[in-house]
Amino acid sequence: MLHSRALLLALTLAVLPLPAPSASAAAPQSAQRPWLDPSLPPGRRADLALAAMTRAEKLSLVFGYMGSVMPSAHYTPPPQALPGSAGFVPGIARLGLPPQWLTDGGLGVATQRSSLYAYRERTALPSGLATAATWNPGLAEKGGAMIGAEAHASGFNVLLGPGLDLVREVRGGRSFEYAAEDPLLAGMIAGAEIRGIQSQHVIAVAKHYALNDQETGRNVLSANISAAAARESDLLAFELALEQGGPGAVMCSYNRVNGVHACESGWLLDRVLKGDWGFPGYVMSDWGAVHGTVSSALAGLDQESAYVFDRKPYFGAALSAALASGRVPAARLDDMVRRILRSMFAAGVVDHPATGAAAIDFPADAAVAQSDEEEGIVLLKNAGGILPLPRAMGELLVIGGHADRGVLSGGGSSTVFPAGGNAVPGLPPSGWPGPEVYLPSAPLGAIMGEAPRVNIRYLEGADIAAAVRAAARADRVILFATQWSAESRDVPATLDGDQDELIAAVTAANPHTVVVLETNGPVLMPWLGKAAAVLEAWYPGSGGGAALARVLFGDVDPSGHLPLTFPASLEQLPHPVLPGTGVPEGQPFDADYKAGAAVGYKWFDESGMKRLRRRADLHTLSLQWPADAGQ
Ligand code: BGC
Repeated sequence: MLHSRALLLALTLAVLPLPAPSASAAAPQSAQRPWLDPSLPPGRRADLALAAMTRAEKLSLVFGYMGSVMPSAHYTPPPQALPGSAGFVPGIARLGLPPQWLTDGGLGVATQRSSLYAYRERTALPSGLATAATWNPGLAEKGGAMIGAEAHASGFNVLLGPGLDLVREVRGGRSFEYAAEDPLLAGMIAGAEIRGIQSQHVIAVAKHYALNDQETGRNVLSANISAAAARESDLLAFELALEQGGPGAVMCSYNRVNGVHACESGWLLDRVLKGDWGFPGYVMSDWGAVHGTVSSALAGLDQESAYVFDRKPYFGAALSAALASGRVPAARLDDMVRRILRSMFAAGVVDHPATGAAAIDFPADAAVAQSDEEEGIVLLKNAGGILPLPRAMGELLVIGGHADRGVLSGGGSSTVFPAGGNAVPGLPPSGWPGPEVYLPSAPLGAIMGEAPRVNIRYLEGADIAAAVRAAARADRVILFATQWSAESRDVPATLDGDQDELIAAVTAANPHTVVVLETNGPVLMPWLGKAAAVLEAWYPGSGGGAALARVLFGDVDPSGHLPLTFPASLEQLPHPVLPGTGVPEGQPFDADYKAGAAVGYKWFDESGMKRLRRRADLHTLSLQWPADAGQ
């Protein structure tokens, strides 16, 4: 959210006043409020409520507030907003309609950074890529239900996830939030997660629609692709997720598509999403993704989120004026409101209020995250069957990755602050999208539990020479290697710091070395030939330490399938140099998607290039889908 989180001065501009709480708020459900009858279909309930609303009430539903105090901005959130939350839309008490309380995100309940309040401590799922690697929609649905229940128990009724932009760009900074490079896999997994979230009376928001596939220049770039190729790739993932999960909302993205901002693209919103796919829910903007009133309203945007991030409050007084002058027809406002209400009724937001009073069973929720990770860990290499590790050996050396304290997680709006606090506090960056957060699920402790009779030693790995000396004496070495990534910036496809050097030196000293990767996405592995085994653990989530230990010692087979391609070199990519490299900040540029629909392994297959991914058998995969999938 970096972008305009600094741009917030223009906020003295006219904003519609919040409707005053009505004296009849406590009025009992009655024949005068038939939309509160849960036996009626959601669309009918929406029509009935809409018919009872004033123009001001309708306008209040399409206009969102940031939920948190913004540093350096003349902005105070409405008092009813939850501290440190991503967003808030007032309710209409007179009609018995609750506010919408919004939180990130697809990996668990996040907290916006501020020194003004305590972080919510919640359970984090492993990376979206780990869940995708399970190829198991049942697990994805359970994970969705777990984070949906934590959201509801925290007082939220809208969860801003899952993210399902295709991982077109291995350097994309938010790959850890997404699902795959393949639209079928991404759509099926995200669809299942949506079902799980919404089973808890929380609206799921499928994001970021569409083609928001890199962070560099995300507010200004134009993703250029033919309509047909878009429909067969990135859009297909959304189409499938919508069919499978029926999310209440879709979030339009920051970037432009073929020159037009996604939140004012009539082609993306009105034609494809609402027209061709018949999406009955509402479109909300990403935080700062709106650029016009009439243009967005007519293109199909239904709700402006957290207006302080936009240059102006486009759906505030400006929308009111556009309605008065007829530039936006009254029927369009009714359509926006009807869509929002329908989703609220359909997800049970009105019938099952999120009071924030429910208790959270942290051990049970961590177990859900752990089972997800156990199936999501991918065995990339296992020379000579070095894995699983024996429980009897002389010395086992564990190196790096703060494995003595926890497992890594990604940064930005999706960061979940864990129960027990950050296991490695104080790591940079101190401001957003940091800090770098480690979840206190330490692999080392879990490894010791797996092999109580083995002499286990830990080195943090900063001193390469010391690591080499210790490795030469050990029977086996497990080396944890990390790549931290965060929203708002892309990453090189490499491990952080001098870890490549560390791995090369340690594997040379001890050929029985297992490398465990905790990465955002694919990394180049110049030492691959020397490592005996390599496991891709992604960001392992709140049960990650135990999951890793169980896989390393063979309690669980590493059965994850790669949901994306590891290139052998950047030269193999459609863009060897990341689009936008060297372009001054804020200057628009084109990202020409020359791969078209051939994302990831399809690009490699088309170009006849060697890749590290095993061929996916999507036909076999489809046998795992629930029997009623697609109905
Ligand atoms: C991100 C969204 C997020 C929103 C609210 C934006 O910067 O792109 O994914 O849901 O902020 O925090």
